[in-house]
Amino acid sequence: MNRIINYLILATMVFSVFGCACTSTSRSDFEENLNDKSDVYRILYYASLAGNSHNTQPWKVNVIDDYTMEVYADTLRHLKVVDPTRRGLFISLGAFIENINLAAGNLGYSADIVIKAEKPTDTLAAVIKLSQTEKTNFNLVDLENRKTTRTPFENGPINTNDLKLITENFTNVVFIPANSDNGKYISTKTLEAYTQQANNEDAKNELAAWIRFSNADVKANRDGLTTGGMGIKGFGGFMVRNLFKPADSKKQSFVDKGVDKTKAQVENCAGWIIISQTEDTPENWINTGRIYEQMNITCSKLGIGFHPMNQMIEERNFEVEANNALAPRGIIQFVARIGYVKDSSKSNSVRRPVLEFTKF
Ligand SMILES: Cc1cc2nc3c(=O)[nH]c(=O)nc-3n(C[C@H](O)[C@H](O)[C@H](O)COP(=O)(O)O)c2cc1C
Repeated sequence: MNRIINYLILATMVFSVFGCACTSTSRSDFEENLNDKSDVYRILYYASLAGNSHNTQPWKVNVIDDYTMEVYADTLRHLKVVDPTRRGLFISLGAFIENINLAAGNLGYSADIVIKAEKPTDTLAAVIKLSQTEKTNFNLVDLENRKTTRTPFENGPINTNDLKLITENFTNVVFIPANSDNGKYISTKTLEAYTQQANNEDAKNELAAWIRFSNADVKANRDGLTTGGMGIKGFGGFMVRNLFKPADSKKQSFVDKGVDKTKAQVENCAGWIIISQTEDTPENWINTGRIYEQMNITCSKLGIGFHPMNQMIEERNFEVEANNALAPRGIIQFVARIGYVKDSSKSNSVRRPVLEFTKF
């Protein structure tokens, strides 16, 4: 009898510590009922599903009236170490703005987007005016299904039709097959640059500040890198959620695991997408973000994994060399690996509520 009671006590203790963290808290835990919300609220909800660096969600919105909104950079969410020029910040805002444009179209508005930021330190990125028009064919589910995929991809080529759908609208985008000389160069340099960044103390501290391992941290912040968002599933995810703290991500064993994982990623893809611009300006960065978001949406629809890997252009010594070696049309702004994946899971990456980043 005593033994049974001891087992019960132990089981209760285990359940109370681990029980609620068997599954990762993810986007579906925060589903919003949008039915009674205004169109602007709905548009901003969908905008917030945009891809963005470290899932910092570095946006703020001032809604002036039912048709006008201002989009600002939230500089408290700027990644000062890995993104000193603020390029990644404005690319993230560009992805957010593109989602505004796409969601507005679905709801029967055209969005007139006027870019306001001239210098990287300007915080007002854009003023957007909506006007009523015909609804587009764009499906809002495509915004919910867009995601970053970090598993190894198939190495086989992207078929010609799919590649056309991904790249045809953009003159400043190139696809570089993984087995070409340039593809091998990007793979090698991305791994080397990742390794350099992952071992940099300042970058480690910055990353740790955006890691949300425990479900409690995910619920409290609804941003950053979570086990669900990073696709760390099963027993591994359970262990990380319950036994690790964000500071553990700075330990050498963790860094080395990240390097191993990155090696498998760069070696397993069909190839690399590169977005270039002629000049480094906030406007070009915002446009880069808009292109990135559109391509990521298309890839997610086609069953093609899309994984931004920008370390080669974030680490200055690698960036200079890469621009010389690859001679893109202009300056490289964004790098992503793509490839077919057998993964139909929904996006798990969490987002903050609209009211947290919007002033109505
Ligand atoms: C400028 C930029 C750089 C990014 N760099 C990386 C990266 O190096 N590695 C990575 O796994 N994801 C990267 N991402 C993807 C974000 O981490 C991802 O969008 C964010 O965590 C939200 O997840 P979701 O795209 O699945 O919604 C980047 C995104 C942006 C906009």
